[in-house]
Amino acid sequence: MPEVQKRRVLFDTDPGVDDSMAILLAFASPEIEVVGLSTVFGNTGVDVTTANALRLVELAGHPEIPVAAGAAKPLLRPNTSRGDMVHGKNGLGEAEFPEPKVKPDPRRAPQLIVDTIMANPGEITLVPLGPLTNVALAVATEPRIAQNVREVVLMGGAAAVPGNVSPVAEANIHNDPEAARIVFHAGWPITMIGLDVTMKSVMSEAYLAELAAARTPFTDFIAAITRHYLDFYRSVGFTEGMPVHDSSALAYVIDPTLFTTRHAYVDVDHMSLHHPGQTVADWRGQRGEDPNVNVAIDVDAERFLDLYRQRLTGAKA
Ligand code: BDR
Ligand code: CA
Repeated sequence: MPEVQKRRVLFDTDPGVDDSMAILLAFASPEIEVVGLSTVFGNTGVDVTTANALRLVELAGHPEIPVAAGAAKPLLRPNTSRGDMVHGKNGLGEAEFPEPKVKPDPRRAPQLIVDTIMANPGEITLVPLGPLTNVALAVATEPRIAQNVREVVLMGGAAAVPGNVSPVAEANIHNDPEAARIVFHAGWPITMIGLDVTMKSVMSEAYLAELAAARTPFTDFIAAITRHYLDFYRSVGFTEGMPVHDSSALAYVIDPTLFTTRHAYVDVDHMSLHHPGQTVADWRGQRGEDPNVNVAIDVDAERFLDLYRQRLTGAKA
């Protein structure tokens, strides 16, 4: 049997409870090769998200994978993120882990993104899971990455549903609307995995208990970091469990048939005085601008959650 070509994934990320779960899904998936992690502020400060990314490559037994620290704040605004309420001050649900032994790559995040894509034309799938600051800086520095990336699959936005940090904005886009606007209009193939689908896939307490029962190093880590996250969602009235944001983007890379998508013109409102960060999708088709984004509008949540469980516990269908 010929070996299946692996998808080479570069994460830009702010781990982050759900970022960590997405990255561990990648490490547990035979069709994915993680080629690097660049880090950004968001769920907590960038020094902390960088330390967490280093912990993840160590946990996965891949200390050779480059982890490059990136933006500490949005392009034009102060950092007002309250991600720590959701993810804990340490970004890992206040669970305690030793300091990582691996050191970050000497490059800054935008440089890692440019170098990785330009050295591997047509091969790299860029998966942004946080505010889009590093990605905007990368494509502004080297616009040719837009032609040389395989595709961009990002977690962010809300096309036809309410936001989560404001009535209209999803957190990653809200945390740097100007950067998001640059990224959405950079002329590369983007799939937007937003709240339209991520709120439909929910891990219940029973589901998480099943994962935890596998007692692998990955599932032990997940069990430790998800308690605080579950408590947060319960405190805001979301009683079914926790929505699965960042892993949904990676799931699309693994198996796009899990999702229904539709091409649309999507703009980012960065000018709104009170409610910046809305992703405005134009569903009028030919009457609007040419589509620039492949928007996920539905997901087979059961099949996705089965996939996540199988990968993380090693269980068969
Ligand atoms: C997104 O915001 C962050 O808190 C999560 O990690 C996810 O990327 C969900 O809106
Ligand atoms: Ca994230």
